[in-house]
Amino acid sequence: MKKFIGLAAASALLVALAGCAGGGGDAGAGGDDGELVVGFAQVGAESGWRTANTKDIQRAFEDAGIELKFSDAQGKQENQIKAIRSFIQQQVDVISFSPVVETGWDTVLGEAKDAGIPVVLTDRSVDSKDDSLYESFLGSDFIAEGEKAGEWVVSEFADADSVKIVELEGTTGAAPANDRATGFRNIIEADPKFEIIASQTGDFTRAGGKQVMEAFLKSNPEIDLVYAHNDDMGLGAIEAIEAAGLTPGTDIKIVTVDAVKDGMQALADGKINFIVECSPLLGDQLIEIVTAVADGEPVEKRIVTEETTFTQEQAIEALPDRQY
Ligand code: AHR
Repeated sequence: MKKFIGLAAASALLVALAGCAGGGGDAGAGGDDGELVVGFAQVGAESGWRTANTKDIQRAFEDAGIELKFSDAQGKQENQIKAIRSFIQQQVDVISFSPVVETGWDTVLGEAKDAGIPVVLTDRSVDSKDDSLYESFLGSDFIAEGEKAGEWVVSEFADADSVKIVELEGTTGAAPANDRATGFRNIIEADPKFEIIASQTGDFTRAGGKQVMEAFLKSNPEIDLVYAHNDDMGLGAIEAIEAAGLTPGTDIKIVTVDAVKDGMQALADGKINFIVECSPLLGDQLIEIVTAVADGEPVEKRIVTEETTFTQEQAIEALPDRQY
């Protein structure tokens, strides 16, 4: 309890300093017994990133002594909508979720708003004209991530005359898939020598990345670079490239996003060439936001996660302390 009060006080200070907009619902910090109850609707368990994100959120709620009602949507928007409706019915104090896809949320978020339950988005945002449907969005800048990947490609292939790129996209309609594609193109399209010769979804999974890469290799005799929207798909692509008798990282260069341990190991081993970080460790910041929102305090509408990039040398250095 002491820890919770401490956290709530720290969060009040933090959001006050942040200079803030919006306002929480009137649910207040209390379930039946006066304790805060939060419903969280997770995307699923598609990747190493997602597993680390789930663990961090569950750990943070346990540390803060806040009740977490956790639901796994198994990658389906309809399951997330059902979970949110069930949280509304249970009259939780705050609802938080990471939307599987960007569109199609207005109705259910309107229902939460009508019930006076504030919503906090984590990791991924929604595409809605009405930003009063949620209090805050905590997560990465996915466009910037795509741009960082593009910038590395431009410098890595500075001396090349032509660069043939295949792209392993994330889940169709998901914010990170849309934005990482946009960010990457923002950079490489300035030079016509970069050509995306094939682009297909691998659904953010290792199996999906492998399967799509196998098909790419069959129909494209010349591939210089794989741009994978996450490490897991990049790791699947490595398997397909090796099975085709080629050397990943040398015959075909690979750039990915996330920087989970397995991806970082592949980077250290020279099978991936560059990784743009996307941090899944959102738990502690989420606690600060939900406690502030439940207390009706103002919070920042958009909180961007701080992230970096990794070369092979940096991965070797970072790996021993990597938490996920
Ligand atoms: O929304 C974050 C993305 O979702 C991660 O980059 C990816 O690995 C995950 O599945």
